[in-house]
Amino acid sequence: MKNIDKESLENAYRLFDSGDINKCEVGTTKGLKQIPNYVFSGLYNFAGEIRTKNISKGGFRFANALYLNEILVKIEQMPESNFEEIIAKYVEMNIAHPFMEGNGRTMRIWLDMLLKTKLKKMVNWQFVDKTLYLQAMERSPINDLELRTLLNTNLTDEINNREIIFKGIEQSYYYEGYKKEDDV
Ligand SMILES: Nc1ncnc2c1ncn2[C@@H]1O[C@H](COP(=O)(O)OP(=O)(O)O)[C@@H](O)[C@H]1O
Ligand SMILES: [Mg+2]
Repeated sequence: MKNIDKESLENAYRLFDSGDINKCEVGTTKGLKQIPNYVFSGLYNFAGEIRTKNISKGGFRFANALYLNEILVKIEQMPESNFEEIIAKYVEMNIAHPFMEGNGRTMRIWLDMLLKTKLKKMVNWQFVDKTLYLQAMERSPINDLELRTLLNTNLTDEINNREIIFKGIEQSYYYEGYKKEDDV
């Protein structure tokens, strides 16, 4: 792992250890931006800033930057009272992909805070297979059934378990190609 990635990983641990995560708004764009502001601040240019360029991944083009601000307002207003609604909201936020970098890692924390607040649950990411997860995310703009099934079978009630949270953060970095053990 490069220093910048290690630093951001440390910031992500600290976001939870310090309790600062509980100061972030839940389910809103403001709350979403607070996460990269904390984790990537001073590391990436534009950390937490809404992108002004169009981007795509694996042939999928995310929301047009021209409409992003209006789309984000609509997404905030989406309901979040049960698991299905929360996943639907997460999927739309992923389609928006508001940042130039850090969308995946940021949104998994944002999703967990929604699940914690609304359902007293979170995803136990350490058991969510990387390939299956990324496939389910690719599929999600068309159909979110795969993603719902995958995450639903890996929910935990242990929402304050530090080890589960930290392993989840490490797994989140692993999904994006950053591996903690690389540097030993
Ligand atoms: N083809 C795709 N369609 C929809 N979502 C995708 C696709 N490819 C990747 N994703 C989502 O985008 C995330 C990566 O976004 P990115 O901004 O690069 O995050 P990070 O900086 O944390 O690596 C993945 O974790 C996945 O959730
Ligand atoms: Mg990335």
